[in-house]
Amino acid sequence: MAAFKLAFDDAGSGPALLLLHPFPFDKTFWAGVAPAFVNGGLRVIAPDLRGFGASQTNNASWSLLDQAEDVAVLLDQLSVPEAHVLGLSMGGYVALALAALQPQRLLSLVLAHTKATADTDQAKAGRAQAIKTVQTRGVDVFADGMLEKLLAPQATPEVRTRARALMNQPASTVVAALQALRDRPDRQAELSRIDVPALALTGAEDGISTPEENRALAGQLPNAQLEIISGAGHLSPWEAPDAFASTVLRFVHQALK
Ligand code: MLT
Repeated sequence: MAAFKLAFDDAGSGPALLLLHPFPFDKTFWAGVAPAFVNGGLRVIAPDLRGFGASQTNNASWSLLDQAEDVAVLLDQLSVPEAHVLGLSMGGYVALALAALQPQRLLSLVLAHTKATADTDQAKAGRAQAIKTVQTRGVDVFADGMLEKLLAPQATPEVRTRARALMNQPASTVVAALQALRDRPDRQAELSRIDVPALALTGAEDGISTPEENRALAGQLPNAQLEIISGAGHLSPWEAPDAFASTVLRFVHQALK
């Protein structure tokens, strides 16, 4: 068990919805959509993953499986045996690790802007370059460059500014995360065992988790729907918050029936 505690938000009542944030963000990523989930009758639990936001870590390096174990401990501490699990991008990798670790935890699974495949050799080389950028030029230079890949071209200056302000994590966490993202396993062989209702969701203009990849992902899950949000890149909760929230709520309520 981790010797540190995760910071988390816990709001609302009803069936639990666990929100797992992307990289390099923290639980504040969900600020624009969490109220809609609470108003939709859900208990929203949103941790800062280890090393991010207000959550500490006692290790210089960690894996996405470690992150899933931390989240399972948090759910135990909150006496939440089952939850709808929504992971976005890196959070989706953690959600897939949690599904492998504790399948009985999942009422349903939302895989948003994510994938079950491992990094390609080209992506691994990109991680090495990114680590070098963080170490030699700092997190701000890295985050400025990454932001351009996250948002659709039509994202408003306001969305751009607000998303960028959230990409504010310690350099040690950004480096540890880049290593963990690079080293994550391919989980495609596990998808056929995830028999709860699932939703693969991405933005029409997401170049990191493309609509084609999500179509394939939904096809590999036994009980999955596919949703492509128009006008959004990799960060639909910021680029199209109403569409994101209503899609997720509709899916979760269907899954509860
Ligand atoms: C994320 O948004 O969490 C990252 O883009 C994930 C990744 O780089 O694989």
